[in-house]
Amino acid sequence: MNSTLGFGLLGAGLIAPFHARALRDCRGGRLVGVCARGSVRAKKLADEYGVREYSTLDQMLEDPDIQVVCVLTPNHLHHDAVMACLAAGRHVLVEKPPAMTLRETDEMIAAADRANLRLACAVQCRVRPAVQAVRHAIIEGRFGRVFEADAIMKWYREPDYYHTDPWRSSRRSGAGVTVQHAFHYLDLLHYLAGPVAEVEGRMTNLAHPSVNLEDTLTAFLAYRNGAWGVVQASTALWPGVDVRIEIHGENGSAIVSGEKIALWKFRDERAEDETIRAIGDPRQATAASGPADFGYADHRTVIQDLIDAIHEQREPVIPVRSVRHTVEIALALYQSAARGHPVKLPIEDDPSIWA
Ligand SMILES: NC(=O)c1ccc[n+]([C@@H]2O[C@H](COP(=O)([O-])OP(=O)(O)OC[C@H]3O[C@@H](n4cnc5c(N)ncnc54)[C@H](O)[C@@H]3O)[C@@H](O)[C@H]2O)c1
Repeated sequence: MNSTLGFGLLGAGLIAPFHARALRDCRGGRLVGVCARGSVRAKKLADEYGVREYSTLDQMLEDPDIQVVCVLTPNHLHHDAVMACLAAGRHVLVEKPPAMTLRETDEMIAAADRANLRLACAVQCRVRPAVQAVRHAIIEGRFGRVFEADAIMKWYREPDYYHTDPWRSSRRSGAGVTVQHAFHYLDLLHYLAGPVAEVEGRMTNLAHPSVNLEDTLTAFLAYRNGAWGVVQASTALWPGVDVRIEIHGENGSAIVSGEKIALWKFRDERAEDETIRAIGDPRQATAASGPADFGYADHRTVIQDLIDAIHEQREPVIPVRSVRHTVEIALALYQSAARGHPVKLPIEDDPSIWA
């Protein structure tokens, strides 16, 4: 087998160039082609990178040079595309959220397992050095008992953002702030402090009256380990500030602001702590004020890992199975907001939340 893996991009919108740029920097992988419905953007991207353009997914999957597909379509289309790619024997990197229901998520995971194919998810914030530093400190027990794990996402999106494509204003497509924007940070809370045992969420639309979506979520989380947490997530708060992830335990506190460590304080100060406090490029935007204002380094890390995982026949660092609980947290928040009471996990799918 050729040791360089061929990648195809399904979708050529906002996130596609991040994958294309990341692939350019990866060892052992190369972009082979692009496919999107309404081919203007696909043609532009294919021309820019000097790669093939396909008009349908079936056509892309007939190309023997493609071994991996990045699924970059609107959220509600992920499931069918992922299933088709797996059925055609391709490894997959799917954008977040991997699917719109637990049933869909489970079907994907089972199909990948049956076919012995890798199925990774682009919740790329997990690989950020600042997040990894917090994760290692938790695993090492430096926080002691974790008391509080919070995510504060006070972002801003112009009203026009919701009208750049019909799916961005559709509940059914998963365009609300909870499952679309805050998904990354719900995922970090699960990754760092989860699993979550119970949620209570309230949702409203503060600044985008032209769409029938929540642009603001305020939620309470109870973690299974006894910690509590709050989630504030909004695209209504001009001008938008960097996300804060806060972990507070009996022996220390850490705050990640965007990609930076904003606070790193433990009772057992160690020599490496000064280096950890310097993590993060203060100039790097992290999507607080615009949908494409962020770097592609984290996608590069995720894609490089997937390439290595395929070669080494191991799980990628972010398999979809590890993101299933994040899907469940997001769905539970919608159920709680719709029903007006707390929701305990695990939950069953409730399709009415997308109606
Ligand atoms: N990881 C991140 O930080 C991040 C950031 C932005 C978006 N995303 C995710 O990426 C995905 C795409 O978002 P986007 O902002 O790029 O959307 P977009 O609307 O800008 O682009 C979607 C693309 O999919 C194509 N498409 C739509 N239906 C199709 C179909 N049936 N077959 C083939 N192509 C089809 C469109 O033509 C378009 O090229 C979403 O799941 C979103 O949540 C992730």
